[in-house]
Amino acid sequence: MSEGAVADGALPEGQRRAERLTCQRERFSLPPEAHYLNCAYAGPLMQRVEHAALAALQRLRTPYVLHADDFFRDAEHVRALFAALVHAPDPASVAIVPSVSYGISIAARNTPLAPGRNVVVAEGQFPSNVYPWRRACSDVGATLRTVPRPAARDGRVAAAWSERLIDAIDRHTAAVALGTIDWTDGTLFDLEAIGARAREVGAAFVLDGIQSVGALPIDVAALRPDALVCASYKWLLGPMGVGVAYFSERFACGVPLEETWLGRQGSEAFHRLTEYREAYQDGARRLDAGGRAQFVLLPMLIAALMQLNEWGPDRIQRYCADLAQPFLGELADAGFETSPPGETAAHLFALRAAGTVDVAELQRALERQHVHVSLRGPVLRVSPNVYNTPDDLAALVEVLRRHGRGRARPLRPAAGQTPEVERAAS
Ligand SMILES: Cc1ncc(COP(=O)(O)O)c(C=O)c1O
Repeated sequence: MSEGAVADGALPEGQRRAERLTCQRERFSLPPEAHYLNCAYAGPLMQRVEHAALAALQRLRTPYVLHADDFFRDAEHVRALFAALVHAPDPASVAIVPSVSYGISIAARNTPLAPGRNVVVAEGQFPSNVYPWRRACSDVGATLRTVPRPAARDGRVAAAWSERLIDAIDRHTAAVALGTIDWTDGTLFDLEAIGARAREVGAAFVLDGIQSVGALPIDVAALRPDALVCASYKWLLGPMGVGVAYFSERFACGVPLEETWLGRQGSEAFHRLTEYREAYQDGARRLDAGGRAQFVLLPMLIAALMQLNEWGPDRIQRYCADLAQPFLGELADAGFETSPPGETAAHLFALRAAGTVDVAELQRALERQHVHVSLRGPVLRVSPNVYNTPDDLAALVEVLRRHGRGRARPLRPAAGQTPEVERAAS
């Protein structure tokens, strides 16, 4: 545990919020040589999360120590911690889901669609927030309306793309389904304006939060999405196989994907389970995935969410911004462009080669130097977090300096080309 971190916990809430975060690498187990700048691929486990997993596993040696309460307690703790993280007023609005696709599928299943109605999505969105809508639309003859990413003007796309999204929403729109940021380069949508337009026409506002929640502040009470879905293994720093989804009243009382016994009222009384009930548990609990009493995954997620609530996403975002800022000039000198300030998040951004690069050679050089980023053609997605140090950025700059010169060439895939699924450089 770092000194800064120890001092952190001892500070009163207000003062702690004002303090900058120090590097938290000692809380993780990354090897010293690893320059891991790819949290958008998967977050590394914190030691406290590993300890939670081990303790939970050991508890399973003797299942007779598990009581009926244990099937509910961790899930309730996760709901409360996630609600606190995203400023959702009521933990009952949080469901436990295994994946983003599961949570989005709940929203799609509970969105009334019909011929003539449409669902608005952004071009190049991650498939988990596309396929459920494709299925829901094609089942009834509704339209999936994909809003193209505009060409960059002076490196800027965020405002123009947000405007296009707003323009695409009309009185026939049943849902607007987006990522909280663009997952390939961190472009920041104007979520407030898009959400307001969705509400104006009565459309559901559905967000895939996996690439920002945890590292970028989000206030559900202010933004008022109808769904905000996150798997835990990226910026929530939890394990794979479990996630969380906030649902507004529009969906919280909807039809679940599975009819689970834990989702029914009275399921706490194990001796009366066969007195079958119609009524569901309160709020979004009915939407929990079957088998959500995950005796290892939930304690891991609790440990991670506790830590994130202690740090605060605002301070994590500032840490990432402070980390990259001193290197932007050197990256430009090396022949790699970043977006102008305010265009992208600080925890996830892209570097675009201004000239030709030998992508295969760049990949090998990154591997040799243990620099882990996502490489999609000549575009690098860089996604730091609180365990990164200036050394990690310096190592990246060093590799790029040797590979970033040459003639300009197109940087983005041609329109209509299927987006490549992300691939780690590791
Ligand atoms: C934007 C985005 N959404 C969702 C996912 C994962 O989806 P799921 O939880 O359905 O596997 C990823 C994984 O890379 C992602 O980048």
